[in-house]
Amino acid sequence: MHALTCKMRSTACALAIALLGYTAIGSADAATPPHLRKQGSATQLIVDDQPFLILGGELNNSSASNLAFLNTLWPTLKAAEVNTVLAPVEWDQIEPVEGRFDFAVLDGMLKQARANNTKLVLLWFGAWKNSMSTYVPAWVKKDTQRFPRARTRAGVAQEILTPFAPATLAADTAAYRALMAHLKQVDTQHTVLMVQVENEVGMLPEVRDYSAAANAAWREQVPAALTSYLAANKATLQPALKTAWETRGARAAGTWTEVFGDTIETEEVFQAWHYARFIDAMTAAGKAVYPLPMYVNVALARPGKRPGEYPSAGPLPHLFDIWKPGAPSVDVLAIDIYFPNFNHWAKQFKRPDNPLFVPEGNQADRTDAGADAFYAIGEHDAFGFSPFAIDEVKDGTYSLPQAYRVLKQIAPLINQHQGSGKIRGFKAPMSYEGEVDTAPQKVQLGGYTLNVSFNAPWEKLKPAEVQTRGGLVIQTGEDEFLVAGKGLTIVFGSSDGAMVGIEQAIEGSYEKGTGRFKEGRWLNGDQTHQGRHINLPGDGYTMQRVKLYRYR
Ligand code: DGJ
Repeated sequence: MHALTCKMRSTACALAIALLGYTAIGSADAATPPHLRKQGSATQLIVDDQPFLILGGELNNSSASNLAFLNTLWPTLKAAEVNTVLAPVEWDQIEPVEGRFDFAVLDGMLKQARANNTKLVLLWFGAWKNSMSTYVPAWVKKDTQRFPRARTRAGVAQEILTPFAPATLAADTAAYRALMAHLKQVDTQHTVLMVQVENEVGMLPEVRDYSAAANAAWREQVPAALTSYLAANKATLQPALKTAWETRGARAAGTWTEVFGDTIETEEVFQAWHYARFIDAMTAAGKAVYPLPMYVNVALARPGKRPGEYPSAGPLPHLFDIWKPGAPSVDVLAIDIYFPNFNHWAKQFKRPDNPLFVPEGNQADRTDAGADAFYAIGEHDAFGFSPFAIDEVKDGTYSLPQAYRVLKQIAPLINQHQGSGKIRGFKAPMSYEGEVDTAPQKVQLGGYTLNVSFNAPWEKLKPAEVQTRGGLVIQTGEDEFLVAGKGLTIVFGSSDGAMVGIEQAIEGSYEKGTGRFKEGRWLNGDQTHQGRHINLPGDGYTMQRVKLYRYR
């Protein structure tokens, strides 16, 4: 038993060292701004030389516009256990008069965040916020000659700036560049980790902009940058786009209708390209000043809806092959998920060329928000998760803070193993209509198979209860695992026919500061169903260190 304890402790020691390093490193490279770095199949956010897992929450749209108001929110944000707050910066507020910038509110926000030991992700509410252009300064709003509007097919002007106006791009870019220059100057301590460029762009109420400039662009040739990307990425193109392009001869040149067909889908592709180019120009300009990671977020489409019924042309999965070549400076196409089929959408955003980041999730106090976080981080290497309107949740007893408390403790282990094939995440998939697939999930980790179910053999749960459960498993050694989450029951087997037994299962937590695993109960008997399975109770987020052995 001592030898075993010792071995298990060696993992604890390694983690302790990692944790100590995490907090104590006086980085050789601390001047480098936060950036993204690949680790195997994962992409991690690196802050002062260390991977940083965003356990975040996004503020309501207007909450950061007034410092006195923002200041009242910190107790709520602390209770939510967030390490990062996502907060808007409004163009109308920072540039009330053209060329004259006022960063007082942003500076106050930085000060408050630092006083509360919290990082920030800034959301640039510039030319577009949820398709519309309501955050632009009055001098932009009112000068429709210089900053023309998008128009419907019938020619009706919308409260949406057209992306086909060079003056609009120049003005938005100038403001964005000023923001980044200011940040570079005032944030040498890297409170701000990333910036979102615009917010949920997308065309409404029709598929595309029909202003005169847009119609002229529609008659132009498809840019070679797009057709050459399609040719180079033939094997992995999104199916609908691939079919549209290939059935017309996979052309290297031609007008939009010649290359993709005269369809509403082509109009969406066209609009997406132009949004992407606009945002790419801004992003590149911002990065030239201060190269923080930059991302765009997307409003998803409800099933059966046509472009224009949903915000058309945003960075949706079926348009990734437009946005990737159209906006190469943008680091991440990020997903806002307000639909119940979280798993279905999350997995589409994790690609070799796109890490998963969830800047907006539905209702922080949803009973399954914590499970979504575990699943995204464990199964798809997400480097961050953040429900929307985190400041609205006044009752600190909801599940997300419990989940974040555990995720914070194991973040060094997650960061160490992400992208290595040694982490899996679990949550029962739910359909858009709300049907839950409660079937056990089978995966392999190293030489072991895991049969993961969302209820213990004696539990009879309603599908809605199954949905509140989720977690992750990290293989920390050949026969060692860290199992964390809520309501998982795991039966381990082997891939070579050997029988597998539980040598030891210990509940516990990682101590703040030292990073040592503080043992709780040694679990056996009823808690492992007499050695048959590992069970994480369904009434809260916990973790266990598990060691297995084989016999024949
Ligand atoms: C998605 C937007 O991106 C947020 O800014 C906010 O408006 C929410 N929708 C509201 O539900």
